[in-house]
Amino acid sequence: MKHIKLDISRVYDFIGKKEIENLRDETILAQNTLYAGTGDGSEYLGWLRLPSAITDQQISDIEAAVSGLREKTELLLVVGIGGSYLGARAVNDALANNFAHLKKDQKAPHMLFAGHNIGEDYLHELLELLDNYSYSIVVISKSGTTTEPAIAFRILKDHLVEKVGKKEAGERIIAVTDASKGALRQLANEEGYRSFVIPDDVGGRFSVFTPVGLIPLAICGVDIRQLVNGAREMNRQCDPGTPFEENPAAQYAATRNALYRSGKKIEILVNYHNKLHYVSEWWKQLYGESEGKQGKGLFPASVNNSTDLHSMGQFIQEGERILFETVVSVEQADNQLTVPEDAVNLDQLNYLAGKSIDHVNKMAELGTTLAHLDGGVPNIRICIPRLNAHYLGQLLYFFENSCGISGYMLGINPFNQPGVEAYKKNMFALLEKPGFEEETRKIKSRL
Ligand code: PA5
Repeated sequence: MKHIKLDISRVYDFIGKKEIENLRDETILAQNTLYAGTGDGSEYLGWLRLPSAITDQQISDIEAAVSGLREKTELLLVVGIGGSYLGARAVNDALANNFAHLKKDQKAPHMLFAGHNIGEDYLHELLELLDNYSYSIVVISKSGTTTEPAIAFRILKDHLVEKVGKKEAGERIIAVTDASKGALRQLANEEGYRSFVIPDDVGGRFSVFTPVGLIPLAICGVDIRQLVNGAREMNRQCDPGTPFEENPAAQYAATRNALYRSGKKIEILVNYHNKLHYVSEWWKQLYGESEGKQGKGLFPASVNNSTDLHSMGQFIQEGERILFETVVSVEQADNQLTVPEDAVNLDQLNYLAGKSIDHVNKMAELGTTLAHLDGGVPNIRICIPRLNAHYLGQLLYFFENSCGISGYMLGINPFNQPGVEAYKKNMFALLEKPGFEEETRKIKSRL
């Protein structure tokens, strides 16, 4: 089986190979801290060995638990926010047919989302749609108290009860939450919903290989066994026993930290495959929430090319030189389509006749990489052989592992997110939530 490849050779014109090698000891120290569980946030390291900790039996149990639901579900609503929905969305979008929602012969449930925003119009339009479909809900919240999914779930559960009755609604709702704490746990217990547990030692953004990702993905027909197998494979490659020079997670962590220290403050995750858009969104949360602390951290941005070359391309080529790119490139397309010959050739495209669309895309990638290098933008390249569940498992685990190392190199706790509370406190004060009287008084004096 092939595996994903990391190529850092195109950063050497900006930071010498030596500068990365100089970070060898520091990277290995951070990696050892991660694996020994001696760093800050070590109570949240369950994800590190998760792929090998999940048994095949547990995967079979998940598949069996959702099989009945699959049959009666046209639309699956995943209700959650941040780490409680981005993993499922990233994998699902990467693997689903682009036009699955319009395909007449679509068999697997189509995944939709709610509780990831507070859009009144969004929810209203969703309810209108749901009137016409057979749907089920997977509601996901580790804390069980997050406002956005809680509001959406309250509305959606009422809609489902009204549509199919309380008993059937109870069978169509699955809760993924803490084993014992939080409002969602209490609700699941009282209403008798089937429920799955988010382990205590796995934070939201590291939870894609727990029921948070696996339950919705299994319902929508993703091969979760292959996804986990891919993660297991990458888990082995990233092991501290693998020499620094061959360890992809250590190499990526060292390279991005070396670039950061040289003044490159923004990392852009670039894809040339539209199905990877939500992998980038997942990655942005993983790195942004893990590293953006104490006035430090690379700002994680993303572009979808070649689309965004026509909007962001100018800035990347010639704007402030604080960027580097990490390109996720898919080696082989799943389908074959070539540019046709045209007898008249008014569009002057006959020089491409017989060439595959993927070849043109690859030349766009190479041409862009070289142009951006000329423009002062270093380039890291991650190559995935195919876009399938196995390689996505490898890719997501690779990013998680490297994030843990990179965060410790930065000198922060990669596993907390204290800054996320600031907006919540103000929002609760403005909404006059009971218990926030003092904050309400203070915030009103600022208005
Ligand atoms: O990574 C994280 O911890 C966060 O993004 C959470 O996943 C997100 O805030 C949702 O929290 P919860 O699952 O408690 O509803």
